[in-house]
This record gives sequence, structure tokens and C-alpha cells, in this order.
Amino acid sequence: INIHVELHDGSRVTLEAPTDMGLSVMEVMKANELDVPAICGGMAICATCHVEVLQSNELPEPNDDEAYMLETLPHATPTSRLSCQLKITPDLDGLVVRLMPEA
Ligand code: FES
Repeated sequence: INIHVELHDGSRVTLEAPTDMGLSVMEVMKANELDVPAICGGMAICATCHVEVLQSNELPEPNDDEAYMLETLPHATPTSRLSCQLKITPDLDGLVVRLMPEA
């Protein structure tokens, strides 16, 4: 599938994301050397993988850990997500996310 990421300078890149490897959106962005610190390595505790979803199909609801982190983020928006908690599935094809400043 393809996902699209808006970078801090407003430009967009399209990334290819395999659906059969159990990867998260964060892992795909890191594999493409985007500026995603993801300090906690996907544990939903650092929020340095924070993205705003600009366009998507139906996404799974945040789990409790993710929801709790999002509540504490100063720049969170109604469509904010932790990209490490979004697993790449066929449903995510065409996803557009924007990288957010670190918490
Ligand atoms: Fe730390 Fe996602 S990588 S919260």
C-alpha cells in the first residue's frame, strides 16, 4: 500500500508500506529515514512519533495507552495518533499523515 507523509516543511512524500510484515506507520517512516525520533521504540510512552491524520479510511480506535498519551500532548488535535500504534493494514492505503512537533 502507499501512505503519504507531510513533512515539517509542508512537502509530502509517498512511502511504500508492506502489509505482511507487522510494521507500524512509525517503523515505515523510520525505514525511509524520515525525521521521527520514536525514542521509546514503539511503546506508546514517548510521543515522539506523534502524527496528525489528514486523510484516512476508518482507523482502529486508539488503545488505552495511546489514548492516555494523546490526552497529555499539548499539540494534539482531534485526529492525532501515535504512529507507532498504527499497524500497516490494507485499510491504511492512501493514509495521509502530518508529522507533528515533539511533545
Ligand atoms: Fe514512542 Fe510511539 S515511538 S510513543
